[in-house]
Parts: sequence; C-alpha cells; structure tokens
Amino acid sequence: MKPSLYDLGMRLGKRALDPRREALVAPASGRVLELGIGTGLNLPCYSTSSARVVGVDPDPAMLKLAHRRAAASATRVGLVVGSGEALPFGHGVFDQVVACLVLCSVASPAQTLAEVHRVLKPGGQLRFFEHVRSENGAWAGLQDLVAPAWGVLVGGCHPNRTTVEAIERGGFTVDSIERFPLGPYPTRPMVLGIARRPT
Ligand SMILES: C[S@@+](CC[C@H](N)C(=O)[O-])C[C@H]1O[C@@H](n2cnc3c(N)ncnc32)[C@H](O)[C@@H]1O
Repeated sequence: MKPSLYDLGMRLGKRALDPRREALVAPASGRVLELGIGTGLNLPCYSTSSARVVGVDPDPAMLKLAHRRAAASATRVGLVVGSGEALPFGHGVFDQVVACLVLCSVASPAQTLAEVHRVLKPGGQLRFFEHVRSENGAWAGLQDLVAPAWGVLVGGCHPNRTTVEAIERGGFTVDSIERFPLGPYPTRPMVLGIARRPT
C-alpha cells in the first residue's frame, strides 16, 4: 500500500484508534520489537525513557516515513527491513513485542508467531491491537466472502483471521483482552490485549 495513502486513511480513524495505540505502547518498556511498524504511527505514543524500540517491516517505503517519525521521537528507535516470518534477531532478545494491525497482513501468522515466541524472553509480553474475525456467523461469512478482494485492495490484509486463537496456538498465554465494535466494515471487531511467553 502507498504509505501516504495509508497515513491518510489512518488520519480518518485517528480519534478512535489513537487512545488504543496509546494503551498498547505507552506502558511498553525495555527492549521492544514493533512488528510491521509501517509508517511509525505508534512512535509518538511510547513513553520516552522506558523503551528502546526496534521496528521491523518488509516495506522500505513504509519505513521511510517511519524514519521521519523516529527522528522526531524522544524514544530510542532503530528500524530494520525484515519480515515477521524470518525475524533478523537472536533468541530471547526482546522484553516485549508489539503487534499493531499487522497479524492481519503477514503471509503466515503461525510462522510469524513462532518467530515472535523465539525472539521474546521467557515471560516476555506480546502486546497486540488487531482486527479479527467476527463472532457473528453471518458477519464472519461476509468477511470470508470479501476477503480475496479486500486483500488485493488493502495490501494483503485479511479481515477474517482468528488472531487471538492463533496467538494461543502459538504457545502464548493471553493475560488480558478487550474486544471493541470498532473499525470500518469488514475490519471489525478489534481486540486489544496482552499475551505472555510462558517462563
Ligand atoms: C496495516 S499496516 C500497520 C502498520 C503499523 N503497525 C500501524 O499500526 O500503523 C501493516 C504493516 O504490516 C507490514 N507487513 C506486511 N507483511 C508483513 C510481514 N510478513 N512481516 C512484518 N510486517 C509485515 C506492512 O508492510 C505494513 O507496514
């Protein structure tokens, strides 16, 4: 997706999304990996001193805008080209991983979550804010129906993924989760939560 178009779309949803972005990353601390950081829209929401953020994304054009936001940020930020399915980091090097509107877009959620599990320290947190498959059968069926076209239009986004279940299947313990009727159809509901790599 064109980064400027992405930012424009996100500006339209800013009022609803920003409080959740803040809740997602403001408490983040230690060595934090932001998966699929995109244009860096979360960067202004980190609290300044307690996090050292590494952002990874496969799209250099998205990262170009993230570099600008990183330069304006009071938080220490490094940016790396890479994909969730093959994270270019060692085992257990991060205290926390942030996944914001990205597990809908990765090619393989299972492989990406296996990589997140690998790079997190035992006991480390996966903090996530994602849109997921509806719990309403009719609506979920509609999400399935539009998914192929939606994926082409919106940079590989899948509106119908059971992301929370995938996180659990990936060996994480979900400690907290909030579900909101938020976001445009077909990318609702959304979930904000914290999962943990067991010790
Ligand atoms: C909807 S955007 C979200 C960007 C950012 N996290 C945010 O909250 O605004 C999805 C991002 O996931 C990235 N992405 C796509 N496939 C990916 C993969 N396999 N691994 C990591 N990131 C990926 C895209 O390049 C894009 O920047």
